[in-house]
Amino acid sequence: MKKNIVILGTQWGDEGKGKIVDYLSRNSAYVVRYHGGHNAGHTLVANHKKIILHLIPSGVLHSNVIGIISNGVVISISDLVKEIQMLEKNNFFVNKRLFISNSASLILPFHIAIDIAREKKLGANAIGTTGRGIGPAYEDKIARRSIRVGDLKNEKTLSIKLEKIVDYYNDQLISIYKCKPFDYKIILKDLLNAKNIIDDMIQDTTMILNNAIKNKKIIIFEGAQGSLLDIDHGTYPYVTSSNSTIGGVITGTGVGPKNLDYILGVTKCYSTRVGNGPFLTELHNDIDAYLSDKGNEFGSTTGRKRRTGWLDGVALRHSVQLNSLSALCITKLDVLDNLEEINICVAYQNIKTLKIHTSVSFNELENMKPIYKKYPGWMKKTLGVRKIENLPSAAKNYIKSIEEIAGIPVDIISTGPDRNDTIIIKNLFL
Ligand code: GDP
Ligand code: IMO
Ligand code: MG
Repeated sequence: MKKNIVILGTQWGDEGKGKIVDYLSRNSAYVVRYHGGHNAGHTLVANHKKIILHLIPSGVLHSNVIGIISNGVVISISDLVKEIQMLEKNNFFVNKRLFISNSASLILPFHIAIDIAREKKLGANAIGTTGRGIGPAYEDKIARRSIRVGDLKNEKTLSIKLEKIVDYYNDQLISIYKCKPFDYKIILKDLLNAKNIIDDMIQDTTMILNNAIKNKKIIIFEGAQGSLLDIDHGTYPYVTSSNSTIGGVITGTGVGPKNLDYILGVTKCYSTRVGNGPFLTELHNDIDAYLSDKGNEFGSTTGRKRRTGWLDGVALRHSVQLNSLSALCITKLDVLDNLEEINICVAYQNIKTLKIHTSVSFNELENMKPIYKKYPGWMKKTLGVRKIENLPSAAKNYIKSIEEIAGIPVDIISTGPDRNDTIIIKNLFL
């Protein structure tokens, strides 16, 4: 049976989406990045080789898969070209099977400069962005002044638009942030050089995808970031500037909701967050050090140490609801192998009213503290386990508890970074 699958994160990103997209996309014809930009860092491990992708969809390691970067993504052309070249060095060739939407907005050097300058000015109140210019690029999109990928096709209009927008940013960079201004002619030259490399890839990806649907091809939609970083539904203002929840697929591709058959929420069996903002189950003890070390919790994009904490069941239920998830994929089970006891947050308590909440508004987390349920650890190695029956019973019980808390099944479990260290409980393509 044909299945178009959305794979997205239910937490604050870095749940292991890339690994799962890579694993599942061997069965698909297309893999689509539909929002965000090169703030994402998706790590794939295949045949002992580690590849980190920021913009290019994680399915492209399979030579039969067509990669699409659709209209909802904000694209730094120079970073895209670097990524294509990195893949070529590793013997993965995407020529003729990577397409970029002509209506995607560009991230340009002044977006990056303004992102970094604003964060610096905010000091202790900074968002903790990846410094990739994501926020400013989406601002331009909404303000209808973006330069879009399709503009690269016409040098004259590109030059006029670029001069205007560089003026707009230079004013701010000089007067507010005391930064160096940009010369639009240099940016233009770099863009035209890069355009020569990606020229054939620029297409109407909405048409490509809807034709693929007509032809009953299987499509995987690859989320970036995580649901709690969503601009509308996350822990605002400590969020990214796009819709990382399910709606981003629709607006970010031009594919209608009836064409989405299955929505998989990738969930790390503990929590991490990079950057600032509320994180109720955060740990500041030896378990934080343990999770950081065993889970290698350092950002794939910026190298920053990720904050760590217990799994937050209240936040998970929020994500299940926001995305109408079909099922969960639980990742990094092996990271918990050496813990005698594991906690899951099952409710929040308001420290002022003492009221217990099993669901809350994510705009009102201020006075909440987590209420935990304790689970026995398994103290056995699960790294690389590929069959559910080979998991220790305490690990199986832990997964069962997550299903009960989330109210949906766990269809996949990941037990290691390698693409094949995966337990398939339900075959999504049958
Ligand atoms: P993404 O942004 O959601 O794709 O996740 P990242 O790639 O940023 O971070 C996930 C990290 O965990 C990467 O280093 C992966 O190689 C690694 N990883 C993914 N699944 C597993 C797993 O099941 N076990 C372990 N130990 N590592 C995993
Ligand atoms: P993947 O796809 C984790 C976080 C940043 C910051 C906030 C805003 O690898 O899961 P931005 O640069 O987007 O304006 O930063 O969002 N952030 C991520 N955290 N994983 C990511 O992507 C992230 N992309 C952005 O750390 O807190
Ligand atoms: Mg990541």
